[in-house]
Amino acid sequence: MVQSLDYADAALVRSVAIDAIATTKEVTAVTDRSHITAGPVASSVLDCIGNTPLVELRHVVPPDCGRIFVKFEAANPTGSMKDRMALAMITAAELDGRLPAGGTVVEYTGGSTGVSLAQVCAAKGHPLRIVTSDAYSVEKRRHMESLGAELTLVESNGGATDAALTHAMIDAAAEIAAETNGYWTDQLRNVDQLNGYRVMGDEIWAQTDGEVDAFVQSVGTAGSIMGISGALRAHASAVRVVAVEPEESAVLSGGSSGSHYIEGVGAGFVVPLWDGALVNDIVTVSSSDAMAMSRRVAKEEAVFAGTSTGANVLAAIETARQLGPGSTVVTVACDSGTKYLSTRLFQNEEQ
Ligand SMILES: Cc1ncc(COP(=O)(O)O)c(C=O)c1O
Repeated sequence: MVQSLDYADAALVRSVAIDAIATTKEVTAVTDRSHITAGPVASSVLDCIGNTPLVELRHVVPPDCGRIFVKFEAANPTGSMKDRMALAMITAAELDGRLPAGGTVVEYTGGSTGVSLAQVCAAKGHPLRIVTSDAYSVEKRRHMESLGAELTLVESNGGATDAALTHAMIDAAAEIAAETNGYWTDQLRNVDQLNGYRVMGDEIWAQTDGEVDAFVQSVGTAGSIMGISGALRAHASAVRVVAVEPEESAVLSGGSSGSHYIEGVGAGFVVPLWDGALVNDIVTVSSSDAMAMSRRVAKEEAVFAGTSTGANVLAAIETARQLGPGSTVVTVACDSGTKYLSTRLFQNEEQ
């Protein structure tokens, strides 16, 4: 068995080596076993959250720009950075008694937070009631249900995200929380989530050896941009922080609220956790441009992610062009593209 594996490896090395595209590093990556150790065995899937890789984008970045790295959050167990905040919110509420053992958790969500909460609640034994909408991908809804969440659907205006939908979902969640005497995580106002993202900021700092000139992130609840940039700025106050929002609903930039198709971001109003004083720049990206870049990032970088990642990469390119060659810009590949297989992002690539 061992020998046949070695033969297979030798054949693989040959086929990779004759391929002029392969680098020595890539050949080593498929054959080297020196990194294999009897690593830790997790006592819970929750121990697998965080410590995600930082991946350099090498093909979609124009030559007149600085380097761009994405924090590859699909490597979290549910394929989203939201695992970090769900764990932070539930743990904090358990610790100070807001959430008793076996207590019900309630939340409104576009889906990613709900999936991450469903994972944490399943692991910790909390029933979960989720308010969501047909505006968000069916994969996320099925994923939440598969992890044991009970869903309540609020109908959207033709599948688009807008302020009216966000408010209707918030109202439904508040009602269910009152009915069930449950703990409403209330992600738009929940400051516990910042702790999950501060850790992510420290990871970025360590992974870049402290060489971060700018950090770019799209805004939903604003939890991730505030938490990550807070941690980076604690290391170096000069780190430039760039927010990203949908062009069709550029409320943080002072525009009016509208419908868009960048799932998870652009709530349609100025969210409570947003602190504009901590942000140097706001870049707006249209839904169609964000989708086009997500598709390019999938095909050209093999980084498979959602629409907000496309928006992030476009804004990161703009920032890296302003800062010029020699600079380092970090952004987030927020989640896995598998969450969007049934949506217009990967179903109809012409839109
Ligand atoms: C796919 C995706 N990207 C980006 C964000 C924005 O993150 P935050 O809520 O931390 O602002 C979210 C939030 O739901 C999201 O689901």
